[in-house]
Parts: sequence; C-alpha cells; structure tokens
Amino acid sequence: MKNILVTGGAGFIGANFVIYLLEKYPEYNVIVYDKLTYAGNLDNLLDVSDEPRHHFVKGDICDPRAVADTIERYGVDTIVNFAAETHVDRSILDPDAFIQTDVYGTYVLLEAARRFGLERYNQISTDEVYGHVPPGNASRETDPIAPRSPYAASKASGDLMVQAYFVTYDLPVTITRGSNNIGPYQYPEKVVPLFATNAIDQQPLPVYGDGRQMREYQYVVDHCEAIDLVLHEGRLGETYNIGTGQPMENLQMVEILLDELDRPPSLIRHVTDRPGHDRRYNLNIEKIMALGWRPRHTAEEAIRHTARWYRDNEWWWRKIKSGEFREYYEKQYGERLKEESP
Ligand code: NAD
Ligand code: TYD
Repeated sequence: MKNILVTGGAGFIGANFVIYLLEKYPEYNVIVYDKLTYAGNLDNLLDVSDEPRHHFVKGDICDPRAVADTIERYGVDTIVNFAAETHVDRSILDPDAFIQTDVYGTYVLLEAARRFGLERYNQISTDEVYGHVPPGNASRETDPIAPRSPYAASKASGDLMVQAYFVTYDLPVTITRGSNNIGPYQYPEKVVPLFATNAIDQQPLPVYGDGRQMREYQYVVDHCEAIDLVLHEGRLGETYNIGTGQPMENLQMVEILLDELDRPPSLIRHVTDRPGHDRRYNLNIEKIMALGWRPRHTAEEAIRHTARWYRDNEWWWRKIKSGEFREYYEKQYGERLKEESP
C-alpha cells in the first residue's frame, strides 16, 4: 500500500482522513479524487496543500475514463471510497444524485479496482443501512440490512455490490460502517454543525419531531483511526461497524451544544418531523474492538469539541452559509419554521 486514492477526499470525513494519513504515514502518497459538489471544499485540505505527497484531481466517480486515467497516472494501488451524496434530507427532496453516485459510482470504482488488479478497496458505509434499531438491540455486521431512506438505500446498494465483487471476482475488499460523525469541516446541513452555527448566531435550532431520536455521535478522527486499522488489519470480504456503541437522544446532544456555546434552551424549536425518520441507530462494535481499536472520545466530548471548533472557525462556515446553502435552508426549513410547533 503506497499510493492511495481517496475519493470524496474534499468532503468532511474524507478530508479528515487525508490529513490523518499524510501525517501518520510519511511513505504514502494520497491522491484526492473529488467532484467538488456543494459538499466538497478545498478549504478542508488547506492544512496539506503544500504537502508534495498530496495530489488533487477534480473528477466524478461515475466517469470510468477519468477514474482509469487517475489510477494509471498515479500508480494507485488502494481505493478508499468516501465519495457519496450524504444527506438524508436532500435524498428525500431529490434522490437522483444518490443513485448515480452512491450506487453507479461505487460500481465504476469496483470495476476499475478489478481491471487494474488493485491491492485493496475499502467502501465507507453507514449505520443507516441497518434501518431503525429497537431499544435494547445493537446492529451486528451479520444483521440483515433494512434501509429506509433513499440515502440509506443507495448506500446499502453500494455495499451489496462491494460484497458481490468479493464473492464473484475475489476483489480484495472491506466495508466500514460508521455512525454519525462530527468534528471539523462538516458541511452545516448536518445536525451538529447546523445547530452549532445557528446557536452562535442566536438563530432557532429546528429539532425534528419530539427530538427523542437516538444517534451515536462519534468524533471524526476516531472514525479515521478505525478505517486505517481496517485497511491494514481487516480481513478481506469483511464488514466492520465503527461507532461509540452508545446512542444519545438528539435533545441531549442539543443541551450539551447549547451549554458549550453558552446559549439558552429557548433557541430550540420543535418542527415537523422528517418523513420516515429512523428513530434509533445503535452499533455493536465488538468486531472492530477485537482488532485493538477503542473510541477515544465520548459523544459528549465530541459534541463539545465540535462546538468549539465552529465557534473558533467562522472563516470556514460563514461563506458556506451565505452561498447555495441559503436556498437549501429556505426549501428545507422555511415553511417548517413558520408553523406553530407540532
Ligand atoms: P460529505 O458530503 O461531506 O462529502 C462527500 C464528498 O464526496 C464531497 O467532497 C463531494 O464533493 C464528493 N462527491 C460527491 N459526489 C461525487 C462524485 N460523483 N464523484 C466524486 N466525488 C463526489 O460526506 P461525509 O460526511 O464526509 O461522508 C463521507 C462518506 O462517509 C460517505 O460515503 C458517507 O456515506 C459516509 N458516512 C458519513 C457519515 C457522517 O456522519 N457524515 C457517517 C457514516 C458514513
Ligand atoms: P443528520 O445530521 O441529518 O444525520 P442522519 O439523519 O444521517 O442521522 O441528523 C441527525 C439527527 O438529527 C437525526 O435524528 C435527524 C435530526 N435532525 C434534526 O432534528 N433537525 C435537523 O435540522 C437536522 C438536519 C437533523
């Protein structure tokens, strides 16, 4: 493993992973391949912009020619696929790009990995493929998948194709399924950066429904460490869950966030719920822990740390929130925020 193609490396987790890899492995070259959709942002990679082992290629994973050219040009031996459309609410408004990138794009990368005989392909997946998990249960990697949103269904389809390439073509694959990541450089459509930046500006926090839904909020660098471990120590053909194992109610997350930013609970606004909203996710993380990994941050530490990062890095998010984001925010929240609390 030497020349690693990180698709979606200009997005939130991908960029954190690129920074992490370049720092940890002085012998690796990292090639970021990213379409720069609304969620891709070269500011996320400013820390490594002068690093000669880092290369950036603007390209679409759905474009087989451009993918092949990049693999040949940089002698790529490994692909870690972060590239995806990633926001559930956008998938409800318009699923098309999700099917293109998360399903067809995954197939294009798998075909390229097969054609060039790559050493390794790791698919970055999500706990959302398991669907709602009733209280008292935690998803194991062997559980059936039961996605319920267009986003989760497209990610689950990608996973199935990865598994098929392992069985059919003996492609050296692994899949990692992460829980809700938080930390630096997360586009402020996801709940924690949205609420942190709204709170900083004394704007309402639109909590869906009763706010008692549960998520495993994990610190992004913990996730990166686990992906690294799977890349180096994971068994081919296997899937690994990566989370904290400890889900938290959204309202508790909000309480911690407001406390850290010194903002009042009166900013909370209960709004009409997301259609098909999964009530609870919970991962069983024994398998990744058996490889020697532990989460370094609790959800509370991750939330506080993230809130401080947004407080201290307005340069990063203010320009995002004044661009395309405004239109999206109006479409997603305009009517909801005008309604009486449900
Ligand atoms: P993100 O939305 O911040 O970034 C996605 C990146 O992919 C962007 O840079 C975008 O430009 C790029 N991209 C989109 N379509 C592309 C295409 N067709 N070709 C090339 N690049 C393209 O996403 P994220 O939160 O960093 O998520 C990264 C991966 O991790 C995704 O696969 C996601 O499903 C998975 N995941 C995310 C979370 C989370 O909490 N954010 C949790 C578990 C798994
Ligand atoms: P999100 O960050 O969109 O991640 P996901 O849906 O992929 O888990 O949402 C996390 C949780 O926060 C989820 O239960 C939905 C909820 N949420 C709100 O209550 N209000 C919001 O404005 C958003 C974006 C999410």
